[in-house]
Amino acid sequence: MTITGATAEGLPLNLDVEHRVVRWVSEVAALTTPDAVHWVDGSAEENERLCQLLVAHGTFIHLNEDLRPNSYLARSDPSDVARVEDRTFICSEKEEDAGPTNNWRAPAEMRETLKGLFRGSMRGRTMYVIPFSMGPVGSPIGRLGLEITDSAYVVVNMRIMTRMGSAALDEIIRTGEFVPAVHSVGKPLAPGDKDVAWPCDPDMKYIVHFPESREIWSYGSGYGGNALLGKKCFALRIASAIARDEGWLAEHMLIIKVTSPSGEVKHMAGAFPSACGKTNLAMLEPTLPDWRVETIGDDICWMKFGSDGRLHAINPEAGFFGVAPGTGMLTNANAIRTLYANCIYTNCALTDEGDVWWEGLTKEAPAHLIDWTGQDWTPESGRVAAHANARFTAPAAQDPAISADWEDPAGVAIDAIMLGGRRATTVPLVREGFNWEHGVFLGSIMSSEMTAAAVGTVGKLRFDPFAMVPFCGYNMADYWGHWLQIGQKAGAQLPRIYLVNWFRKDESGRFMWPGYADNSRVIEWIFGRCSGEDDAVETPIGLLPAPGALDTSGVDVTAADLAALFAIDPAAWVAEADAIEEHYARFGSKLPPALIRQLADLKDGFARA
Ligand code: OXD
Ligand code: MN
Repeated sequence: MTITGATAEGLPLNLDVEHRVVRWVSEVAALTTPDAVHWVDGSAEENERLCQLLVAHGTFIHLNEDLRPNSYLARSDPSDVARVEDRTFICSEKEEDAGPTNNWRAPAEMRETLKGLFRGSMRGRTMYVIPFSMGPVGSPIGRLGLEITDSAYVVVNMRIMTRMGSAALDEIIRTGEFVPAVHSVGKPLAPGDKDVAWPCDPDMKYIVHFPESREIWSYGSGYGGNALLGKKCFALRIASAIARDEGWLAEHMLIIKVTSPSGEVKHMAGAFPSACGKTNLAMLEPTLPDWRVETIGDDICWMKFGSDGRLHAINPEAGFFGVAPGTGMLTNANAIRTLYANCIYTNCALTDEGDVWWEGLTKEAPAHLIDWTGQDWTPESGRVAAHANARFTAPAAQDPAISADWEDPAGVAIDAIMLGGRRATTVPLVREGFNWEHGVFLGSIMSSEMTAAAVGTVGKLRFDPFAMVPFCGYNMADYWGHWLQIGQKAGAQLPRIYLVNWFRKDESGRFMWPGYADNSRVIEWIFGRCSGEDDAVETPIGLLPAPGALDTSGVDVTAADLAALFAIDPAAWVAEADAIEEHYARFGSKLPPALIRQLADLKDGFARA
């Protein structure tokens, strides 16, 4: 076996054979039997070499250097296009610790299954060892990981999405701490076998987490969160379990810095299910004059109490793995500007000029494209050109709206937390929780219509508390208990909590709120509330903006639409309370009594009304 990226002894700098890192890498190599091992250093030269290799293998198409410098397009196998929630497992010792929203398997049984799957799974391939840091290297809120993968596509994506390479390895050696993560596309090559452009196992996928031993094993998929293991697997599923044990929060949230016309600054975090506009909100250009929104993160937020009793947040990622369709100059100009160069595109369409395209990038589609499946496409084809879950992988530092403190290792103090789902009916545009406990209740009853980010039925309504159903590494009821406990911390100065819904429709199915940049108007109201403005009215479901408090000057929303956006239909809420009761029943005796009380209060509120 050849070993590269290492010293003559076959070890990276500073490591001796007894080091835990070396022992673990040797064990995985012995199990998976790759042809070669490469210790990734994260350098530009290494990246260039891997991109060339991916082009040579047909995985990457080099885009036109004049139009998109240093950028590549990949097309996945049609069976491997999204996260696979039904193949994602939480293997805690006790089933009740995984809870009803996770797929559970006994750890010992799963370890046997994994051994069978990974035995020889990297034959004929190179095994890459990727040291990475989630969060700025050395941040007291950040964490370290080591991903082993047999996919060069994963390496070059991880280089954008995390701080990957030598600095992270030095820190792993210094601290001795890392989360081990093993990934194989599950397509070993026998001598003489010809590789395919997107190797994967179309029939067998396992995305496995051991929250107690803090390990990740992923088999069979090369796509996104299934394969870039720093993201959903580590930064959410494993980190949520670590955060529970250590008294902090690992959340599926964007982070923004908001500056008012007078120069006052607030930081907000926001939890939204996948493909509900988090990246758009994180890069928003306010339509309200002289307001500024800057990006700190678009997907994941780790928050720890500072000595000031406030929750301080970092974005553990270094890039955006954003949904491409629907992203254009009108919906998210900053994303388009971010994509000018140095990006990887997956399952987008290819133009005749060697650029990428997707639905929503331009008003008019080009007359001819190669679609995400590699077929000729014209506007008359009657099918989409880019897959609905096509993605861009883009360096966060290229975002023109990136905040100067996005890499502050100490994080930013959070003033408000927004939670939101995609709801066509019932749920108003915005409401504030009465207090922390009520805010946790709002998070626990979040529901949303499903999107293409995961394999499943698009449009189906499901409860997705805190947008964490696919990402919580332990029992969701214990997770709510953890949030409630955070609120009990002595001396805590807690953020206010809001539930928003940009997606309410009228009877004809038309969105009543323009959304996108006009969401700045809701942000402005939240900002004012955090500064002590007394412009809310109490209702049974929370505090709503007082009449006239939401600045809608210049927005194309009629008075009737505005009223409908905030309408509270008692009959719909009685039905909603019944659905919440059913949702809660799944958690049995684990459900925190505070939430049972909150639901009773909601019902009482309508009984009294
Ligand atoms: C994502 C997701 O990729 O939530 O961010 O699915
Ligand atoms: Mn996400």
